[in-house]
Amino acid sequence: METTNVKPSQLNYDKYTSDKYDQDIINSIPFHREIHDLIVEFVKKFNPKKEYKILDLGVGTAITSQIIKDILPKAEFDLVDFSHQMLIGAKKKMGKDRVNYIFGDYSKLRFNKKYDIIVSVIGIHHQNAIGKKKLFKKIFGMLKFGGVFVFGDLVTYKNERQAALNTAKHYKYLVDMVTDEKTLADWSYHHQFLNDLSPIEDQIDWLKKIGFKVDKKFLRFNTALLICKKK
Ligand SMILES: C[S@@+](CC[C@H](N)C(=O)[O-])C[C@H]1O[C@@H](n2cnc3c(N)ncnc32)[C@H](O)[C@@H]1O
Repeated sequence: METTNVKPSQLNYDKYTSDKYDQDIINSIPFHREIHDLIVEFVKKFNPKKEYKILDLGVGTAITSQIIKDILPKAEFDLVDFSHQMLIGAKKKMGKDRVNYIFGDYSKLRFNKKYDIIVSVIGIHHQNAIGKKKLFKKIFGMLKFGGVFVFGDLVTYKNERQAALNTAKHYKYLVDMVTDEKTLADWSYHHQFLNDLSPIEDQIDWLKKIGFKVDKKFLRFNTALLICKKK
């Protein structure tokens, strides 16, 4: 059974130079910066001398992993994406030292390591509900006990009025921030027809049922940050 509605070629991240992408992601995702400030605050609680194993799913140009690497310089990173161009952008930021670049679909790849931190920011919302549940289980299995899944993503709401209102706010941000018509057309198409958002309430429920302790760190418009600990 298919777990996503889109193919990598449809998402078309390969068309991006990393500079353009880095600007577009901030302009098209409300609170991308704010959730990263919270990630920094959280990661600062870790021991910078430890050699943590970290996995980033849908790494893009490694905005998140680079921030974590600055705080935890001894950590080893596995960075996954199914866009070559995005991995090239990630390499520019992260270099070669203690970083592995993995090309492929994270829902199909097999990972043989156990991780201290698995992070995914705006990288899972193309999975349908079945895909997300499967992936959350897979993530749980790949974490060490005490490990943590740092999950920032676009979500919707069970209540239809709440869902509609927050989607309107999401698009207003997009219209206000994106400076040219072509970029706006690309991202509004992407968000309207390629995203497969699941209600935040369902996602928290699935994560808890798998065994995660879930802390809802941030939720505004359609942007959420959950810190999920494997007990
Ligand atoms: C919106 S970008 C977010 C990138 C980055 N995490 C950030 O916040 O800037 C989503 C990324 O996830 C990747 N992606 C989406 N689904 C994927 C999958 N199933 N396997 C691997 N990469 C995936 C895309 O190629 C893209 O680079």
